[in-house]
Amino acid sequence: MPTCLNCSELSDGQCMAYQNAKLEYGRPIPPPPIGACTMAIVRGYTKLIKKGMNVLDIGCGTWPYLRDYCKEVGANYEGIDTQKEYYGVKTIASRIENLSELSYPDDNFDLVIGNQTIEHWAEYGCDTVWGLYQCFRVCKPEGKVLMNAPIHFHGVAPFLPGRFDEIEKLFMTFSETVTIERWGEDPRPFSPFIAHRKYKKLMNSHAFIIDIRAVKDIALPMISGNKRIPMRLKRWLNYDVSYFLYLLRLKLRL
Ligand SMILES: C[S@@+](CC[C@H](N)C(=O)[O-])C[C@H]1O[C@@H](n2cnc3c(N)ncnc32)[C@H](O)[C@@H]1O
Repeated sequence: MPTCLNCSELSDGQCMAYQNAKLEYGRPIPPPPIGACTMAIVRGYTKLIKKGMNVLDIGCGTWPYLRDYCKEVGANYEGIDTQKEYYGVKTIASRIENLSELSYPDDNFDLVIGNQTIEHWAEYGCDTVWGLYQCFRVCKPEGKVLMNAPIHFHGVAPFLPGRFDEIEKLFMTFSETVTIERWGEDPRPFSPFIAHRKYKKLMNSHAFIIDIRAVKDIALPMISGNKRIPMRLKRWLNYDVSYFLYLLRLKLRL
């Protein structure tokens, strides 16, 4: 994983991945590295996609890049999302469903991909560990689960606070081969992007991206199911306590 200074996407002091992403996404995106490295990471995923493979895109939203690539090389693409529309555009989901109720059979996909979605699952009522269980359940043995997510940007813990040990532990419940790469952690020559200047805990922490890759190389463990509690309550319970209090203060305008 390159630092921004050594990245092939840096040209004349501009992040070309960001310029590209602005055109590709067709919706508002945050500045580099958040709105840029995802492009490069997803392009990296396509190197793993071969003719005849089965690919599942979790929280696919509206961005057709992976779907179109699969079509081009003769791979089968499936996408799921909880929403029919995202930013007023129809999602590309083949099935509108929550990951917590994933309806695909066991051992079905060569690659299970999630671009900027894992940090939101619990906000939509799916415990992160249960969501991962579902991803590994439908992944073929020796297949791969590939997730990228922002750190210090938004979403539930452990992603917003950047608790890496916890993130690693989550994946190691399902895999012995987990790598986590940090993209844009050193954002020079770009200014650090601090998303929460008024949130004491993160007021000096800039946002960046992690690229998590895991192989399904162990038997699926038994875990307890998705906790049946109201979605909104689950969302709050999955935030870092200090973030919850910060949001509450904002809401009450204190
Ligand atoms: C930030 S968007 C990213 C969309 C797309 N992957 C992209 O890169 O443009 C996150 C997406 O994840 C979906 N999502 C979040 N939690 C989900 C869940 N539990 N099950 C299915 N989709 C979920 C949201 O509806 C949203 O479309």
